[in-house]
Amino acid sequence: MTMTAEGTPIPPGQWLGLLGGGQLGRMFCMAAQSLGYKVAVLDPGADSPAGNVADRHVHADYLDPAGLARLSAIARAATTEFENVPASALEFLARTARVSPAAESVAIAQDRIREKGFLAEHGFAVAPFAVLVSERDASGVDAALVPGIVKSARMGYDGKGQIRVSATTDVAAAFRAMGGMPCVLERFVDLACEVSVIVARDGRGATATWPVAENRHRDGILDVSIVPARVPAALAVRAREVATEVAAALDYRGVLCVEMFVTRDGALLVNEIAPRPHNSGHYTVDACVTSQFEQQVRVLAGLPLGDTRQHEPAVMVNLLGDLWFENAGATAPREPDWPAVLGHPQAKLHLYGKAEARRGRKMGHVTCLAPTLDEALDVAKAIKRSLGIPGADEI
Ligand SMILES: Nc1ncnc2c1ncn2[C@@H]1O[C@H](COP(=O)(O)OP(=O)(O)O)[C@@H](O)[C@H]1O
Ligand SMILES: [Mg+2]
Repeated sequence: MTMTAEGTPIPPGQWLGLLGGGQLGRMFCMAAQSLGYKVAVLDPGADSPAGNVADRHVHADYLDPAGLARLSAIARAATTEFENVPASALEFLARTARVSPAAESVAIAQDRIREKGFLAEHGFAVAPFAVLVSERDASGVDAALVPGIVKSARMGYDGKGQIRVSATTDVAAAFRAMGGMPCVLERFVDLACEVSVIVARDGRGATATWPVAENRHRDGILDVSIVPARVPAALAVRAREVATEVAAALDYRGVLCVEMFVTRDGALLVNEIAPRPHNSGHYTVDACVTSQFEQQVRVLAGLPLGDTRQHEPAVMVNLLGDLWFENAGATAPREPDWPAVLGHPQAKLHLYGKAEARRGRKMGHVTCLAPTLDEALDVAKAIKRSLGIPGADEI
């Protein structure tokens, strides 16, 4: 296979490659297939939401040269749905195929030390932090960084790999509890709310952002995204500018999520970036002219960016595996009451086809659409109550 020249569109009918088999990949496959592409997914897992809908599923480890060779033999361009994909896998594919995002962007996003360093160096406001790579670093931290959170530099997600510390004397123990792996200590920020912006940037540097999502977490996992975010208009404009500036600073190509903190005194801090579509952008599938997944396909294939306009207010509610268990002690899963959800005609249900429900596992989501945000919130609250998802009154 010869190199696909930068910018040359790859026409529908051709193959696109995807590293990773999760739900983000599944929705990428569906969007690509809608546009007439075929998708080959490389993923080691058997229960693979993306592999189950892909035109071809290559069962192999991300670093298996034979598996990567099979993918690059058919796909003219490849992307990832998973930020912990080894950068070397993307580099391997980049020898023969167009790859977006670039391995370098993924490498920055998958390491909190590089990520925070990159953001700070480029002038983006972040929470005060320190890098911890040794016991010495951990026992000599600045008192201004506590109370704070020790976060592992790599492989953290959904609040995993984080330990809260209230005094400088707790930091060394937290560092040891992380197995002495490189970490950052981040000062605890007094949050008014959390927001995110999905931004797409193509090979020519054209960008598009979607409306700002207001994100509510539960036990470190995204629970609800409310869009448009209930923040001052100027702050929403600024958040979209920041996301665009982060994408430009990375010379990013593809779809990127920029998660931000809004502090009680109104400051906007960049929390983290994800080099792929994001859970907080799932609302775009039902509420926007172009979804984050279709945009990922467009950028990968070298097609023009689609319109990101939102046609209706939306509230997305995540559906975790906990819903399959009647109560805290239950061991046997049972199917949640989907007809009750679908009884709300404004609710769009998405299930990822995962064979096994586990507590804390993302199994699906439901996007509630309405002419006003208050009505969309009411539908989301009613669905939360009917499924037994806590916190209906807090949104
Ligand atoms: N410095 C901080 N101050 C206050 N809350 C924080 C801070 N860092 C993280 N959190 C909370 O923890 C959540 C998860 O942290 P995050 O850094 O986004 O890690 P990940 O999403 O990779 O698990 C955030 O969405 C936020 O609610
Ligand atoms: Mg996060």
